This record gives sequence, C-alpha cells and structure tokens, in this order.
Amino acid sequence: MIQDQKNIIWHNHPITCQSRETLHGHKGIVLWFTGLSGSGKSTIAGSVEEKLYQLGASSYVLDGDNLRHGLCRDLGFDKPDRYENIRRVGEVAKLMVDAGLIVLTALISPYRSERQMVREMLTKEKFVEIFIDTPFAICEARDPKGLYQKARSGTIPHFTGINSEYQIPIQPEIRLNGEHKVSHLSDKVLEFLRSRNVLSI
Ligand code: ADX
Repeated sequence: MIQDQKNIIWHNHPITCQSRETLHGHKGIVLWFTGLSGSGKSTIAGSVEEKLYQLGASSYVLDGDNLRHGLCRDLGFDKPDRYENIRRVGEVAKLMVDAGLIVLTALISPYRSERQMVREMLTKEKFVEIFIDTPFAICEARDPKGLYQKARSGTIPHFTGINSEYQIPIQPEIRLNGEHKVSHLSDKVLEFLRSRNVLSI
C-alpha cells in the first residue's frame, strides 16, 4: 500500500553530505554505466574502483547481476520489472552519494526514460552517464555467461539486443569504446573525475 506522504516528515540530521565528503576527502557522485550485456560495464567499473581504492577513495559498485541476487531478486526482465529495478538502484545510489561515496552502477538500464529518472533524482553534478559503446556483434561473440546463445535458442525471454530493445544514450557525459583496453578506459573515467574536481588526489 502506498503511504500518505503528508504524514511523513523529513528529518534533517546534524551530519550532512558535505561533512561526509570532507571526511572522505572527495565528493560523492554516481557513475552510471549503461550498455549491452557483455559490453564491459562491470569490468570497466571494477577497474575504475581499483584505481580509486589505490588513491584511498571510498567507493562501491552496484552491479546489476549481483543486486538481482538480493535487493532485486523478485524482479524479472519485462518492462515494469526493469523500471522497478532501475528505480530501486537509483534510490540506493542516491543514498550512497549522500553518504559521500563514489558509486559505480553497472546495469544494462536499456531505456532512456529510466536513466533520465535517476538523473533527476540527483543534482546535476552528481550524476554521470557513461555509455559503454560496444557493438552488438562483439557482445554476442564475447558471450561471457553464455546468455546470448541461450537467448538465440529461445530459452530467455526479453533478452536485451535480441528480443528486447536497448536505447542508445544521446548525450552521455562519457562515451567509451568497449573494444579498447580496460585500463585505458578506466583512466579516462579517472581523468573526468579530476576535471570535475570530484577527486583532488
Ligand atoms: S536491467 O535491464 O534491468 O538494467 P540488469 O543490469 O539489472 O538489467 O541485469 C542484466 C544482467 O542479467 C545481464 O548482464 C545478464 O547477465 C542477466 N540477464 C538475465 N536475463 C536477461 C535478459 N532477459 N535481458 C538482459 N539481461 C539478462
């Protein structure tokens, strides 16, 4: 049942997002990786996080496959469930940004309207859309989990790129060619964070 919002009053706590950012020594931000299954989102996000860790930054990767083992285990892949998946992860990412963390999300997030919804949950400088632009044929050839093969044989309904669409980002803050070396791509993300003064290290 949806609660009556007028009886729910926001409580302002004494420690703010800014206090926590000062403690961490960097800003909180969401790096929203989007792209096809097998495009390299998780691998690149993992490489960015390794570099952040080396620098002493506080970060966390919200990985679509992992979240679907817990927080989102009740959701499938039809349109309403994908919407709810993105909404939940967007809200979790927003909380983590308030905690002062650098949050890396790795979800297909195939629909523009849902990526826009998360963008609107946050202030402008706190959301960075990163499109992992890897051609469909390459993702299918990589097929790291054997899912494209299963989808081709008709055993996975609503599989993105086969019988469910992926809407390419129009103006992502960062576009990475997923055929390039992972380390080169994660360096680009670090460079971006420095250029936006998220990191002073
Ligand atoms: S999203 O579309 O709702 O953003 P999410 O990133 O959470 O998707 O989950 C995608 C992962 O679930 C894929 O990497 C793949 O391993 C797995 N998967 C299982 N079924 C599907 C499907 N029908 N379409 C896409 N990915 C699927």
